[in-house]
Amino acid sequence: GKVAVLMGGYSAEREISLKSGTAVLQALLRQGIEAHGIDVGKEVLTQLSKGEFTRAFIVLHGRGGEDGVIQGALETLNLPYTGSGVLGSALTMDKLRSKQLWRGMDLPTADFSALTEDTDPAVIAADLGLPLIVKPAREGSSLGMMKVESTDALQSAYREAAIFDTAVFAERWLSGAEYTAAILADRVLPLIRLETPRVFYDFEAKYHANTTHYFCPCGLSERQEHVLQALALEAFQVLGASGWGRVDLRCDEKAHPYLLEINTVPGMTDHSLVPMAAQAAGIGFDEMVLRILESSLE
Ligand code: DAL
Ligand code: MG
Repeated sequence: GKVAVLMGGYSAEREISLKSGTAVLQALLRQGIEAHGIDVGKEVLTQLSKGEFTRAFIVLHGRGGEDGVIQGALETLNLPYTGSGVLGSALTMDKLRSKQLWRGMDLPTADFSALTEDTDPAVIAADLGLPLIVKPAREGSSLGMMKVESTDALQSAYREAAIFDTAVFAERWLSGAEYTAAILADRVLPLIRLETPRVFYDFEAKYHANTTHYFCPCGLSERQEHVLQALALEAFQVLGASGWGRVDLRCDEKAHPYLLEINTVPGMTDHSLVPMAAQAAGIGFDEMVLRILESSLE
């Protein structure tokens, strides 16, 4: 039957999703699979319930698409879909709750504190140290994130993050190397190390800058790489995520790894990391897309 490639949507990552979705759609069509791209809006349930499609390939990033909302609608329509289910999608979309759960399970994640309009910046700075980073809880592509160097700057960082989400938190700054672990068919691919001359791996560094460097092999010893891969897979599974996705990690100054967050619908653009890791494992873009599609039927 025909595959509905769900893309676009109404999140702040809409434009990225259109790029990811177009790349996935083209890969399916190249392989002779009947597929149609759908820009997700209010009509989506009507479009999907006409009986034209037998499954959905979700390439929506951010809220409404990566957070269990569309997954729940697809469950109701009894239409198989790629990636994580409702619970795993909802939990991993929320970085604050992800960190609270990892903490509860003794998995390493940097110290953090929820912020509100009334939070005393001096208390947060004393607790987490400076610099620190402020993040909206449920956003993607680093939108609304800001590094804070002084107590005075905390309030404006909070306000910037609050544009993107009502839930905001501060996290201890990690100054070591950043890694990402791509997961495909519940298997961890080779790690990628990211380096940027920018303050951090922000929206610009992710999609536009040609100064971002990607290292795969990542430069760790085989043993260390396995430690991080095992940590990433455990972190993915304990939050109920499944199928494919990407786990982001960053090390502190002592090279100890900490979990940053999980993406259950990671980017599939030409700058994106899961396709890069798959390539390093000998899996081309088309083959990778096919494997993700196949997992929708498991
Ligand atoms: N949220 C973006 C799409 C990513 O993680 O790749
Ligand atoms: Mg993310």
